[in-house]
Amino acid sequence: MPETWWRGAAIYQVYLRSFADGNGDGTGDLAGLRSRLPYLADLGINAVWLNPWYPSPMADGGYDVADYRDIEPVFGTLAEAEEFIQEAHGLGIKIIIDVVPNHSSTASAWFQEALAAEPGSPARERFWFQDEPGDWKSIFGGPAWTQVPDGQWYLHLFAPEQPDFNWTNPEVHAEFHDVLRFWFDRGVDGIRIDSAAVLVKDFDGGDPEGYTDLDEVHEIYRSWRRLADEYDERILVGEVWFPDQERFARYLRPGELHTAFNFDFLACPWEPAALRRSIEQTLDTHTPLGAPPTWVLSNHDVARVVTRYGRAETSWDHGDRRDGVPSDLELGYRRARAAALLAMALPGGVYIYQGEELGLPEVDDIPGELRQDPMWTRSSHTVPGRDGCRVPLPWSGEEPPFGFGEGEPWLPQPEDWRKLTVEAQTEDLGSMLNLYRAALSLRRDRLGDGTLTWLDLRPDVLAFTRESGLTCVVNLGSDPVRLPPHGSVLLASGSLDGEELPSDTAVWLA
Ligand code: NOJ
Repeated sequence: MPETWWRGAAIYQVYLRSFADGNGDGTGDLAGLRSRLPYLADLGINAVWLNPWYPSPMADGGYDVADYRDIEPVFGTLAEAEEFIQEAHGLGIKIIIDVVPNHSSTASAWFQEALAAEPGSPARERFWFQDEPGDWKSIFGGPAWTQVPDGQWYLHLFAPEQPDFNWTNPEVHAEFHDVLRFWFDRGVDGIRIDSAAVLVKDFDGGDPEGYTDLDEVHEIYRSWRRLADEYDERILVGEVWFPDQERFARYLRPGELHTAFNFDFLACPWEPAALRRSIEQTLDTHTPLGAPPTWVLSNHDVARVVTRYGRAETSWDHGDRRDGVPSDLELGYRRARAAALLAMALPGGVYIYQGEELGLPEVDDIPGELRQDPMWTRSSHTVPGRDGCRVPLPWSGEEPPFGFGEGEPWLPQPEDWRKLTVEAQTEDLGSMLNLYRAALSLRRDRLGDGTLTWLDLRPDVLAFTRESGLTCVVNLGSDPVRLPPHGSVLLASGSLDGEELPSDTAVWLA
């Protein structure tokens, strides 16, 4: 790993509810995660990013935070979280946690205080209360304003249980400074900033999305960066979803965030020209800023990569989630393997969403009554939402709960995941899990932060060499391609045909 750990890190995303259940209640927790730390160390990742672990009514999977300085009892205790951080550090694993500054939970002390207080009171000024509702729409569907018993309305860009903070209020700034310190003081190495671009609102401009990427948001992150810099090597990672690369890059200016998720790459179709454009554009925006790019194939908000890459339309679009669209999973699996080698070879950091290393597909057939994502309820059951990529992991055994824990998992696991368990894949040399293990191990010494040099083999082939001499070739065309001159084959996502690389296959050469 490079000296500055985060510049080339492989970061594993733990969706705690679905990772491993230590107490048999069907929901993943810290006890489960701690028992599986050896798995993560073995996998060869450098850091873990955990989705929110705070007390929460779980109206949005924990992104409705009731208390930023404690742990959800279903997940464990603050003491366990502190022990977990130390244990992870002992294994050389850094910890990134999620902080949600745009909104809190209606169950938070502040919001409860606001409800009990008068209109116009200081307690209400921490949120957006007004006498008449505005016309903005919630990102989860339906109106973004909800009425309280005394007749006032409050803003929630997401679910009604997630009231937005008023970032013109200095108390809100002070609160989050304190929250950052709280966790940095406990050894957390980084903060993933949820919905980072929407904190500042402009109600008067007439824009129905007058909350996206307003200039004033940068002042917040400059102050957060000053705070982070008081500590040793702590990082700020932005969740910044919008296509304008120039605006995106502004979050990574010196004195602002260290890195941000590269959603352009995630959303890109499995097509050579589009992927090359996305990679080049990413490098062009990041290099002048001295910020390392990140490469993201999936997360807890989008359809699993195996399913996406097996569809006729392989790009990702939040507005058109393509839920339930037919997918050729064999093709998707093959492409996902190649994509993993591509993402892990590129300069910068890489994110791996739990289960990606197992090649899990999206679960499309979760019964409606078991779905928990507010997208499902807020869309009057027309958008299935994100539960399909959040199904508890299969660890071992022949039937559900596949070693996830003793109890019935909070979302049902497909029966045929028996062949996808960690146990089954550990024994199978050709498995996705063993591909990830091998790639992460090679990556530790030879890849990560730096630059690349393109090799122009064929328009439907992506090929580049890294400083260490490693060459990555990905064949996105339908015909096999001859490998460039090389010493040895380090790793391939599928079988080679002599010196030929088949379609939808990637190889690392030395
Ligand atoms: C982005 C998170 O990744 C997503 O899961 C959540 O629903 C929204 N932000 C709101 O917090």
